This record gives sequence, C-alpha cells and structure tokens, in this order.
Amino acid sequence: MIGRREFIRNSMIGVGALAFARSAPYMFGADSPADSRIEILLNEPLGTISPNIYGHFTEHLGGVVYDGIWVGENSKVPNVHGLRKELVDEMKKIKAPVVRYPGGCFADSYDWRDGIGPADKRPRRTNFWAGVESPSGPANHKYEPNRFGTNEFVQFCKLIGAQPYLAANVRSLTARDFYSWVEYCNSPAGSTTLADERAAAGFSDPFHVRYWGVGNESWGCGGNFTPQEYAVEFRRFVTWVPGFGENLSFIASGASDDQWSWTRGFLEEIVHRGPEQLRSIYGMGLHYYTWNLSRGRTRDWNEGKGDALKFDVVDWYELLREADVMESLVNGHWQVMGEFDKQHHIKLIVDEWGAWYKPGSEMTPGDIIEQTPTLRDALLSGLTLDTFNRHPEKVAMANCAQLINCLNSLYLAHEDKFCVTPIGHVFDMYAAHQGGQSLRSVFSAPDVTYDRDGKPASFWGLKGSASLHDRELVLTVVNPHVTQAREAEIGIRGASIKSGSATILSHTDIHAHNSFEQREAVKPQTKSMEIKGPVHFIFPAASVTKLTLSLA
Ligand code: AHR
Repeated sequence: MIGRREFIRNSMIGVGALAFARSAPYMFGADSPADSRIEILLNEPLGTISPNIYGHFTEHLGGVVYDGIWVGENSKVPNVHGLRKELVDEMKKIKAPVVRYPGGCFADSYDWRDGIGPADKRPRRTNFWAGVESPSGPANHKYEPNRFGTNEFVQFCKLIGAQPYLAANVRSLTARDFYSWVEYCNSPAGSTTLADERAAAGFSDPFHVRYWGVGNESWGCGGNFTPQEYAVEFRRFVTWVPGFGENLSFIASGASDDQWSWTRGFLEEIVHRGPEQLRSIYGMGLHYYTWNLSRGRTRDWNEGKGDALKFDVVDWYELLREADVMESLVNGHWQVMGEFDKQHHIKLIVDEWGAWYKPGSEMTPGDIIEQTPTLRDALLSGLTLDTFNRHPEKVAMANCAQLINCLNSLYLAHEDKFCVTPIGHVFDMYAAHQGGQSLRSVFSAPDVTYDRDGKPASFWGLKGSASLHDRELVLTVVNPHVTQAREAEIGIRGASIKSGSATILSHTDIHAHNSFEQREAVKPQTKSMEIKGPVHFIFPAASVTKLTLSLA
C-alpha cells in the first residue's frame, strides 16, 4: 500500500467520467413554510475569528512560483517588480492576511542563502520535486534558479498586505542557519552584516517576519523523525533565536490527519524539560488533504484518489464528507494538546488543507500537482472555512494548499493567461468574516441521503458559520444537495434584521469550473434584500451563500 509519504516516487493516472447536470432556480425572502432553520445566538460569542484563518501557502513546486507568482521584470505579462500583477490585485481584494513559504517538502531541502544577493549570481539547484517532473517539464521547475527568494517573497507579501510565514529547513540545515535567516529578515538597518546584505538588495528596513515554521512534515519528507526526535530538534532550533524586537511565533511541524500519536509524542517530549517549554510554541501544525474517494475500498494514496473534473454524484458527496472530517481533527488534536497544555496557550495552525486529485486536469499541461477546481471544490472550501470559523479559540491560522497552479488553488495562470477559480470566489466572499466575533449558530435541516454502493449514506443538509461586526452579521451557508434547493427560516436571537444582501456561488452543472477561455463560467451573484417579517431564504442546490445582514 502506498501512503502520502511515498507518492512522489510514483507516477499517477487518470480515470473515466460520468457527467451530471441539474437545474436550480434560486430566490430571496420567500414567505412559505421552510423545512430548515438557522438560529444565530447573538449572546453566545465563541471568540474572534483570526484573519489568519484565511491564509495561503506557496511552494517552489511545479508552476506555483515560476509562472504563477513570478513572471520576471522583463516579462510581457503585466507585473509589479516581476510579480504577476493580476495575482497581486486579486489578493488585495480578498484581504490575504498571511502566506506560508517556501514549502512544503521543498522547505527542508532549501538554503535561504541561495535566494538572496544579486539575481545573476544566485546558484541553480535541483528542486526537491525534480523527480516528479516529466523530462519535458520547464527547466526552472526542475532546477531551482533561485530568482525568487526571501526578498521577492516578502515584497510580494507587502504588496498584497499579507504577513510572511517562513518555514525553516530542519532536515538538512542547522539551528544556526535558522537564526541567521531570522537575522537577515529582522535585524535593524545597519546593525549586522546580514542587515547590510539585505540593504544592498534594496531593503534596508527589516522585514519584521513574525511567523516561523520549524520544519515541515517532519514525520516524512522533513526528516523522517519520530515525534520525540523532532521535539528535541524543535527545542534546539528555538532555544536561542534573537527576536530583534519581533514577537517571534514558532510553529511546530504537526500531524497529518488523525496522527494523534504525533501530537502527543511531540508534546510529551517537549514537557520533559519542564512545562515552561510549552511557552516556546505558538502553534502546532496540522495537515489534512481530502483525497480518498474510494468509498472505503482502499487507503492507497494513488488508487484512492478521484478525478478533479470527472465525477458522479456519489463522488461529490464523498468528497464533501471527507472534507468534513476536518472538524473532528480540529477537536481531536485540540483535546490531545490540552493533555499537556491545560491553558491552551498553543493554538492549531492548519497550514495545509484542500482537495488532492489524480493528475490529468492540469490547466497547463506538464505542471505537476496542478488540478482544475470545480464548483465541488468551492463547497469543500466553504465548509472548511466555516469549520475554522466555528472554532476561533482553537484555530489561529490556516493556509490553503496551494495559492496558484497547484491543488486547492484560488488562481490558475500560464504566461499571460489567468483565471480566478471557484475557490478564489469563496475566499473573496468569506473575507467578510475576518476579525468578526464568531457566534454559535444552530443549523437544522433534513440530511442529504444517497446510495453509496448499495448501502444508504447520508450527509448534513445545511451548515455554515456566522460572525458579527458591530451591527452587521455575516452568515455563510453551504447547501450540498446536488438537485434540491433548501428553504430555511433564519432567526437571530437577540436582534431583528433591517436589511441585507445575498451573494451566491452556484451553477446548474456541478462540474462547472473556470478556465483561461471561460474565466467567468462560475462566479458569484449579489442581490440586496428587502426584509419584512420573518426571514426565509432559499439556498440553491449545490451552493455557497453569504448573507450580509444589518441588525436593527
Ligand atoms: O502541498 C504539496 C505537498 O503536500 C507539500 O509539499 C507537503 O508538505 C505535503 O505533503
């Protein structure tokens, strides 16, 4: 059986298709009997939604950096200092709060020094992912030219208004290399030789990097450590790191899926040196990819995967069910963390999440680990972000994997072609939750039932999250049913609704997706609502909806 650890050593194949279409008229403010109810409890706040839950992830992998983010200053593609302008503009729009970089698995093979200094003097290195690239793959995807490094990444973050989150190399560099990177980024102008090097590149002011990941997937590509071995490395790496006035926040490489033993083993070893050691950890990572659409037949990493574009109704529900596991992972790891950290000083950082399909749907042929997101992935993203919103005291940051030309991507680009995927639209809609007060909300709706290979299966009928911003309430809701719209009465305990607007992302074809040729096949529609009396809303089939409601 092949697991995620081994996948890079194997080639992957595509599968056949089953098309499915549906029709779904939608409307607002109806006054007929509803079979569902959403109750928002204004006086039961759960905590402030960290904007960082809406974070991103970028790795030197396939077309993410070269072609996706970096096009070069002399490119005919509109750019700002070599960075793709359309991407910069879109990311400003969605209020991108934080971006993780340079990996992923790449991070533990990367020497940050290769990516600084005069561009024409930077070395070419074999990319971590070179073995997965096809012989015809672009040279700069296989052999890292280091044209894009720390300076360019931080400049990208500054342009879009996001904070950088850098992942350090624990597998193949030392603790000294790590704190030198911190010094390069954060030491004051003129204070150190590394600050002078930064200034020589045009950046005399420090970068003020607060978030630092200590390795990546240290149980696998990041060193094959046991949790105990990794804890020893972690302690060593973070023990003496000059802060330069920055509140350095160290993020430990966390578990994949339900590897409770990783979280437990790591923290057990950390507290061996005394409970105060817990104070050195800002966050505990968690990676969860939705990939197994085999309906329980296999756990093989290659065989279990589904197709991004060719899927049937059961695959649709299976993907959403698998994605919904996130809630139990957040609760489960939080519980284990509480065994050691009773005050819950350490937060969860879900620094990789999204769907992972078989190859074959790449918008740019030859781009490895790239797939084309559909409406199905918009629902996956909506329900995942809703899950994070419902646990504001636990999840401090999350990073969708990955931003562009990769897995659960918000954008696809190649040369001068660019499009926003349905996932990008969900991030745009959900940005309204950032910094809001999460409110407990009760969703009651009939379950979706379907036939799972001759056995009855079910999935929830309506779910979402709510947040309050002064007197404005943002409610996001996913209706997973492929053919049935769902009418719900919306009650707000403690206030009444004055007016509102609805933004809906849906389509009559569940496979709908955007492409370079059809950039707007899937796009949200917004309508304002007159509110008189009880509020009913009809959530279209297969939809993600945002209601923005002004409270009286
Ligand atoms: O996102 C692709 C890869 O998935 C990352 O490099 C790694 O951390 C994970 O296994």
